[in-house]
Amino acid sequence: MSITKSLPIPVQRVSETRLPEVDWDDLEFGKYFTDHMLICDYADGDWSDAQIIPFGDLRLSPVALALHYGQTIFEGMKAFGMEDGAVNIFRPYKHHERLSLSAERLCMPVVPQEIFIEGLRRLVELDKAWVPAAAGSALYIRPFMIATEARLRVKVSGAYRFVIVATPVGSYFQQPVRVKVERDFVRAARGGTGYAKCGGNYGASMYPTQRAREEGYDQVLWTDGKEHRFIEESGAMNVFFVVDGVLITPPLSDSILDGVTRDSLLKLAVRDGIPVAERPVDVEELKAAFAGGRISEAFGSGTAAVISPIGVIGIDDKDYVLPAAEEPGVGSRLKAALENIRYGKANDTEDWNFLVK
Ligand SMILES: Cc1ncc(COP(=O)(O)O)c(C=O)c1O
Repeated sequence: MSITKSLPIPVQRVSETRLPEVDWDDLEFGKYFTDHMLICDYADGDWSDAQIIPFGDLRLSPVALALHYGQTIFEGMKAFGMEDGAVNIFRPYKHHERLSLSAERLCMPVVPQEIFIEGLRRLVELDKAWVPAAAGSALYIRPFMIATEARLRVKVSGAYRFVIVATPVGSYFQQPVRVKVERDFVRAARGGTGYAKCGGNYGASMYPTQRAREEGYDQVLWTDGKEHRFIEESGAMNVFFVVDGVLITPPLSDSILDGVTRDSLLKLAVRDGIPVAERPVDVEELKAAFAGGRISEAFGSGTAAVISPIGVIGIDDKDYVLPAAEEPGVGSRLKAALENIRYGKANDTEDWNFLVK
């Protein structure tokens, strides 16, 4: 897949690259940023021309509306260095779709698709040397939009800035995580902003997550806001269970983020003949599956880790332990299938790779 329409995006190059500052053996997530960033402003009902400039601080009024009333949205996506030396941005159109949904929910303007796609392509092409080469590593890309109008009244901003920055990240091996089924706090209620990738969702989840950490868990497993009965998602990940050999994940709703990894894993599972069910997962059902020895795997899915195995689920003060895998399970098979497509080791059967020429 590649773009047909090309926008002229003026580029102001750095005089000297910061590449030598990077410790490629220790790519702490989000520590190093590539030489350039894309910016594009919106005012008076129109987007101005996008431009690529050296990575640097933003100038904002202290009363920019984003700083007070939360009109901030973002995406998290990756570009991969492929086996043949090409670079591939994974599913950028799907990420644009989600950013547009987030924008609509937060009363923010939609970033035109051609600015989003061509901006990503130009930025990644320009900073190609920042795409790490080591197996499992990638360039993490963060497009985001903030309300910039200077006004201290609660109102829909009339001005916005769209920005894309990128950071090289290492391969992500994770020990199985301990998650706590959250029965008191709520991440997202029906009718709320759970399906949007907006800053407020993350700010509001910090306190419950902090509490869970103090209790010895890594993450919260959110339940529905009404009854605290059905599993929704976990931290910055969607969640899957394998019960009786069926890959089960809660269905999308307005309180769950439509994860691009979730969608990709489901499509690969169907392609590879793994039985799949998108249906509500009752906490009681999970307990019964543990009691009957019918649950074999649980994992989170997200852009950062692809899949993150869950080792322990805490439900109402009792820890339920997942069995140790004897052979590669459904999660690791799907992870390998996805990674093989992204790194160009297998055919891109679903047309997901956007190649940067
Ligand atoms: C709340 C939440 N759920 C799920 C996900 C997984 O989404 P994706 O697979 O698109 O990274 C993320 C990460 O972006 C997230 O922040």
